[in-house]
Amino acid sequence: MSMDALKRQAAARALEEVRDGMRVGLGTGSTAKHFVELLGERVRSGLKIVGVPTSEATRLDAERQGIPLTTLDDVDSLDLTVDGADEIDHALCLIKGGGGALLREKIVASASNRMIVIADSSKWVETLGRFPLPVELVPFGLAATQRAMVRAFAQCGVSGQMVLRTATDGHVFVTDGGHWIVDAHLGRIVDVPRLADCLSGIPGVMEHGLFVGLASMAVLASAEGIRVVERT
Ligand code: A5P
Repeated sequence: MSMDALKRQAAARALEEVRDGMRVGLGTGSTAKHFVELLGERVRSGLKIVGVPTSEATRLDAERQGIPLTTLDDVDSLDLTVDGADEIDHALCLIKGGGGALLREKIVASASNRMIVIADSSKWVETLGRFPLPVELVPFGLAATQRAMVRAFAQCGVSGQMVLRTATDGHVFVTDGGHWIVDAHLGRIVDVPRLADCLSGIPGVMEHGLFVGLASMAVLASAEGIRVVERT
């Protein structure tokens, strides 16, 4: 079975959690795109939900699917967010941001009563960090922010190269919020909550891709079937 088929299966399982009347956060990335497509089919068959997209790309996809959209300015909270991830550990801590939408993804997940993360099972890891950690930065004072990050990494027992993300045209990658992303190649993050706290305290860091205590359920698809993991 192809990776894409596995992603779609995970998305289909998450769709079973969506009920009439829900306000649903819509994730970004190739797995979340399957969820948006499947949700669109249900909406066209009469399901009444309203969505909040986590990126401009997802907003366009959702509009194409005919999913009614709202914003976090117009609703108090969301019932459910369904999103992909780059890595997932046993505590359902995540690395996200491979697609560059981590800031809006974290705002939307934090405004949700539940977050379901959907993925093929290759995203399930013993320890986070093999996937480079995306950190969204304000362009002003970039070098100073990176020096502060190096100090934070040392305090948290990690180190590694930081690479400013570029787009396919070779120019610096700019997020939906107008910021830049540095991908930190840390290898193995020994204390995820501590590193998350350290990075959040650095002026110039808009957001980082460590999602701690946000996902309540993971749906992992493999050739052997679907595995659902709940956070205890
Ligand atoms: C987008 O910014 C990311 O957080 C994605 O959710 C993550 O990179 C997973 O993407 P895929 O589903 O494409 O692997």
